[in-house]
Formats: sequence, structure tokens, C-alpha cells
Amino acid sequence: MSVASAGTVENLLVWGGQALSEHGVANARREARLIFRQASDVSLEDMVSGRTVAVSDSVVRTFKDYVRRRTAGEPLSRIRGSREFWSLDFDLSPATLDPRPDSECLVAAVVANLQRRRIAAPRILDLGTGSGCLLLALVSEVSGASGIGIDLSGEAVVTARRNATKLGLADRANFAVGDWGASIGERFDVVVVNPPYIATAAIAVLADEVRAFDPTLALDGGEDGLACYRTIAPQLGALVAESGFAALEIGMGQSAAVSSILACEGFGAIKVWPDLAGTARCIIAASGG
Ligand SMILES: C[S@@+](CC[C@H](N)C(=O)[O-])C[C@H]1O[C@@H](n2cnc3c(N)ncnc32)[C@H](O)[C@@H]1O
Repeated sequence: MSVASAGTVENLLVWGGQALSEHGVANARREARLIFRQASDVSLEDMVSGRTVAVSDSVVRTFKDYVRRRTAGEPLSRIRGSREFWSLDFDLSPATLDPRPDSECLVAAVVANLQRRRIAAPRILDLGTGSGCLLLALVSEVSGASGIGIDLSGEAVVTARRNATKLGLADRANFAVGDWGASIGERFDVVVVNPPYIATAAIAVLADEVRAFDPTLALDGGEDGLACYRTIAPQLGALVAESGFAALEIGMGQSAAVSSILACEGFGAIKVWPDLAGTARCIIAASGG
């Protein structure tokens, strides 16, 4: 790759768009613009004005480095170090899953069920919290809500705490290292879980953007993808309050199997919620069902 001429916005965007396109990145010109916005503080107005806007050598270097990373398959969210989820901005780290828009359906399902069951100021437990996106989205959305997020990864917990502070929610959301609910001695109105649910053998064939950049600890659901549900389901009886419920994200085609695992522990699937693509994505379950 070589920058054809001096560091002006237009030259860089043309060069970046070509480099991305040559490496098969979709919507290359748009991606180049998004990457440029990360690499510089040039205003959107200047970017689209058509005027010749010069940029410093350091911006050129940063932009080239970001384009190189993107052409190597790194998602823009990883380059940026953050991801929008539920209209909130979450920092990422190598130890956190990049939150998926599909998981917003779990947040919506929990909010709807809290309203339907008239549970006010709920206490929420988030198992496998990662960036803290589920707990913090719920705490930001539901008046008086508070809770705890647990993750086996200490680095993920540090990132989740940073997100809580950044979003002004640290007084209502705590985070701790733990092995699912094993060390929790409290019952909660809601337990949310988005566990790793990819079958081990399927990880090798995931898209590069996922396999190479999301942590294996956040993806690997064991031989059939259901190992974490089998560990977590027997813990739920001691974690969910009598009038409360659990909300579990599931992978494609796992609805019947996870419902059956929950049923063995005395939990009934009240409702299976689809994501925006219409795929069953979230199970709401309560004791007795
Ligand atoms: C699919 S990610 C979900 C992250 C986040 N809740 C989200 O929705 O974006 C699963 C999370 O579970 C965590 N995890 C894996 N095994 C765990 C265990 N035994 N106990 C607690 N957390 C675990 C991973 O580190 C990861 O953050």
C-alpha cells in the first residue's frame, strides 16, 4: 500500500477505500470514512465539503495503521475499542465479547417481563457479564434497578467496571470475578445469562472477525454448545427470587434443548423471544413455568 500523494482528507479516503476494497471489505468507501473519523478530529463537515483539507503526518500514520488492521480482518469496533449497545457506548478489551445487536432482544424481553410482572426496582444478576452490557443496559433502562455482574475473566470485570463508571451507573452496578453463580448467596428478581454457546468444533469455522478477535472463553460452549446451560441451570433455583425469572440468550436451534435442560431443574420456558431476524434468541423462564 502506498499513499499516492500528500495527506489530504480526499487522498486518504480514496487510498483507504481502494485498499479496503482490494481486501474484500464490503462498503469500502464508507468504511474508509468511518475509520478516518476514528483516526482524526477532522469534522464531518470538512470531510464531506469537497474542500482540500490537509491532515498531519500523525493522522496519516494512524489512518494507515487502522486501515492495515481492518484489511487484516479486525472489526472496526475492536480498532475503535468500543461498541454501541442499547444506545450506550461500551469500552471493549481483548477479554470481552464484542456485544451483539441480537442480545438487545434479551434486554427488551427482560424490560417487558418486569413491567408485566410489576416488579419495581429489581435486583439483577448478570452471569458472564463481559463488557457489562446486559446489566448496564437494564440498570440504565429500569428505574431503581441495581445488580451484580459476574465473570470468570478478571480483565472483563475490570472493563465492565470501567463501563459502569463511564456511564454514571457505578453506584447501581457492581462487578466481581466468579464461576457463574457458585459463590453468590443472594436471590435476584432477574438473572440474565448470555453464556458461551458455540459448539467447540464450530469455532474453527466461524468468520475471522469473530474467531480471531472474540475471546474463546466467551464463545466455547463445549462439545454440543450446551455445556454452560447444564452448569448454570441447577444453580438458578437458589438464585432466582420466588416471583422472579431468568432470561437466557440461546444460539440458533437451541431453544428446545435449553428449555428441556431448564425443565429438568423445575423451570418452565414462559416465552421464547425472537431477535430482529426472527430467530429464537432468548428464553424467559421461571420456577414452575
Ligand atoms: C457470550 S459472552 C457474553 C458477554 C456479555 N454478557 C454479552 O452479552 O456481550 C459469555 C461470557 O461468559 C464468561 N464466562 C465464561 N465462562 C464463565 C464462568 N465459568 N463463569 C463466569 N463467566 C464465564 C466469558 O468470559 C464471557 O464474558
